[in-house]
Amino acid sequence: MAMGKETAALRAHYDALAGSYDGEANQACKRAYAELIRRVLGNAKRVLEIGAGTGKLLSDLDAPFKVATDFSPQMMVARKEECLVHRATANAEQLPFQDSTFDFVLNVNLLEHVSSPPQVVSEAARVLTPGGRFLAITPNGDLAWLLELLERLHLKLPEGPHRFLPFDELAALGGSLFRVEEARRFLACPAGPSGWVRWVDGLSGKGRGWGLFQYLLMEKR
Ligand SMILES: C[S@@+](CC[C@H](N)C(=O)[O-])C[C@H]1O[C@@H](n2cnc3c(N)ncnc32)[C@H](O)[C@@H]1O
Repeated sequence: MAMGKETAALRAHYDALAGSYDGEANQACKRAYAELIRRVLGNAKRVLEIGAGTGKLLSDLDAPFKVATDFSPQMMVARKEECLVHRATANAEQLPFQDSTFDFVLNVNLLEHVSSPPQVVSEAARVLTPGGRFLAITPNGDLAWLLELLERLHLKLPEGPHRFLPFDELAALGGSLFRVEEARRFLACPAGPSGWVRWVDGLSGKGRGWGLFQYLLMEKR
């Protein structure tokens, strides 16, 4: 894979974090991501996670064919699967899969790191079947100042090279390839038990929500 300086630095950053990443990641966030994914997965059978890191999201999903990809080889090696999850080292902007291979493509905290989020969306559309779904969860770029402050206070893991996406930019990523089903901010308080975290999120009602993170769920046209 040919890499620019920025991409090489990013990959080195995540290679170095691989051994400890999952243990140090925020537990309230992980639970909220898992709840969201289970809610929207439907009866998807062929699931691809891009920028998967070492997390167990795929292991916990009830789908017969699951593939985890990441461009950090160390992240792929450090994964501890609890059931069969295929792994491939791959750049989310150039996926090594044939067209229409999957019916669900998900990514968690990836889009803020890639050189071109629209290229990731376009690749996801290519490998998805028509009617397949794409879910992206990413930090809320409209609160970049707060996210950077939390990182400086060591209250979140270091991002490495990144650009947080503003909500409107995330919500528009589907272009003509996808139909947006949900676009919302969440995780206003990513600390404490699930019930509490959900209750706080519920306070922002049914609109665009509020929180440190945001997600986009779309269906391929
Ligand atoms: C913030 S971590 C998130 C890991 C995992 N999704 C999670 O939430 O625990 C970002 C991950 O994206 C990967 N990544 C960054 N740019 C990538 C790209 N262009 N293609 C594939 N993976 C990438 C990194 O190696 C890293 O594992």
